[in-house]
Amino acid sequence: MRKIIIDCDPGHDDMMAIMLAAASGNVNLLGITTVAGNQTGDKTFTNALKVVTLIGENIPVARGCDKPLVRELVTAPQFHGQTGLDGADLPSAVINPAAEHACDFIISTARQNGTITLVPTGPLTNIALALTKDPGIKNNIERIVLMGGGMHDSNVTPAAEFNIYVDPEAAKIVFNSGIPITMVGLDVTNRAIMTPGEIEDLNKPGGRVSGVVVPLLQFFAKANKDIFDLPGAPLHDALAVASVIAPEVIKTKHRRVDIEVSGELTRGMTLVDIYGVTGKTPNADVALELDNKLFISMMSSAVHTLDSRAAEGK
Ligand code: RIB
Ligand code: CA
Repeated sequence: MRKIIIDCDPGHDDMMAIMLAAASGNVNLLGITTVAGNQTGDKTFTNALKVVTLIGENIPVARGCDKPLVRELVTAPQFHGQTGLDGADLPSAVINPAAEHACDFIISTARQNGTITLVPTGPLTNIALALTKDPGIKNNIERIVLMGGGMHDSNVTPAAEFNIYVDPEAAKIVFNSGIPITMVGLDVTNRAIMTPGEIEDLNKPGGRVSGVVVPLLQFFAKANKDIFDLPGAPLHDALAVASVIAPEVIKTKHRRVDIEVSGELTRGMTLVDIYGVTGKTPNADVALELDNKLFISMMSSAVHTLDSRAAEGK
């Protein structure tokens, strides 16, 4: 069973990523680390604590960086609201957060667990910091499966995807780390859509988890419809977790990916060398196809599993 840490900025789709991992019997979610991104660091941390409380799990949550390595923070309230999880009220957090900084939690957990998989679903600030503080943990990280970037798709500028755009210097450190990377970018995650009908079908009478997830996803779907005319809620981050649980949910190509850090118009662009014209060594498995039917079924099953666990008081 793959041992994973999710590094996230909840965020509606980050929440779904956490839920999928927690519900799955195929991954061991060792912990959650949070980073500023969709909202400020205090809000993403609080949101992660609330999500873990909602699903009744006792997963360690460690707070990380409140800003990118060198740039000012850019947030995304237009998609996630002022709280970062607008659309429904989650229960107040009752779990005790981890005492360590996220960066130290990643280092200690990696060293204690032999080999782990990191699943970053926000800006890569914490990951870059951990790799810089303790380069030796590269021997403990078998793969980084990240939601970020895009070969032909973008969302925050015409050139870049949000997670990479917010902290391109961190992304450059991660993509140049030598650790095997799976890049789950917008080319597939903008097609990892849960439609309004599929969201509605999550509803289960008295469902503790689905009762909150449905209005949250309806909020997120409306924001994405209004801004990008998407036909539902793109569960970007959950697809990264899904690809760890069921690798067949995506198809990838092993390519060279470089990060633009100095471009005035192209900051944060993930340049995917699809034809190998640079002659550089490929450093990532880039997701270009997905099985959305399988993905949505995984998401629906996860929510129903968490509803059942809550009902049984597990
Ligand atoms: O571009 C999509 C990514 O940015 C997702 O991780 C979403 O949660 C936001 O962080
Ligand atoms: Ca995210």
